[in-house]
Amino acid sequence: MPLEYLSRMYERANRENYAIGQFNVSNLEFVQAAIGAAVELKAPIILASSSSAIKYAGIETLVAMIRSLADKAPVPIALHLDHGEDLAQAQHCIKHGYTSVMIDASGKPLEENIRITREVAQAAHAAGVTVEAELGRLGGIEDNVNVSARDAFLTDPLEAQRFVRESACDALAIAVGTSHGAYKFKGKPVLDYTRISTIKKMLGIPLVLHGASSVDPQSVAMINQFGGHIEDAHGMDEPAYREAISRGINKVNIDTDLRLKWTAILRKQLAEKPAEFDPRKLLGPAREAVREVIKEKITLLGSAGKA
Ligand code: G3H
Ligand code: 13P
Ligand code: ZN
Repeated sequence: MPLEYLSRMYERANRENYAIGQFNVSNLEFVQAAIGAAVELKAPIILASSSSAIKYAGIETLVAMIRSLADKAPVPIALHLDHGEDLAQAQHCIKHGYTSVMIDASGKPLEENIRITREVAQAAHAAGVTVEAELGRLGGIEDNVNVSARDAFLTDPLEAQRFVRESACDALAIAVGTSHGAYKFKGKPVLDYTRISTIKKMLGIPLVLHGASSVDPQSVAMINQFGGHIEDAHGMDEPAYREAISRGINKVNIDTDLRLKWTAILRKQLAEKPAEFDPRKLLGPAREAVREVIKEKITLLGSAGKA
């Protein structure tokens, strides 16, 4: 199918209370893994690229690669700009065929975040493209931090209501305790689920969870076993996904889990096949392992069979 507008995918996910997986890609193997997993499970899927992914692969190459595989896939696939930096970048991506863009001005003061997001929304909506914005600062909820200190960086529901009304964004990434990368929680995930429910009730629009990788201990152990060094790292567990989705999350962003699995398998291949120098024999098993991770996520998020 041609690349799908994310708004169409959101509509059903919001109504039926499940989440669509966003998987970050910047090379052929991740794109094949993600699309292969979505086709196998008959799931809608979002492929995303950050600024650094676009810089790494080149926007024309990235879009051509994704389009050529998506065209042949019988499931809806959206192409999304992750953590977009400004209007010019969003317009550049839309021009090249992205069907959704994120504008992340969450580091700016509220008024500026609203103004920048509104400009992007005007440009994107004219092209039928969905806009995700972010409000609040991602970061773990520490046990020893008092409530007012922690509230200062989590998304404020009243502010979110005003933000969405004035910026006209279609989906909102909220800060409820997750953070990017491999080091999210000290142990069990601590998320502010009540905040998700409150924001959902007030806004009704699709909510997005960034920093949602699980940081699989087996991948971490394998990386360390084969010469890597990743310190004690924790992420989302299964109950945390289920709870967050039941309260109104409709898009879940995963990047770190794919990178960890990829690195673990690649390190193992290199260690166990010292005479091998065919990239396909080294990268192939890593690609298959990433595909399995994506299948597990799709199943967990409830989007299997929703294509
Ligand atoms: O949220 C950030 C994503 O994991 C993208 O990371 O900028 O290294 O591509 P990146
Ligand atoms: P992770 O680092 O938890 O995979 O989060 C990715 C993300 O939020 C991309 O926008
Ligand atoms: Zn993110």
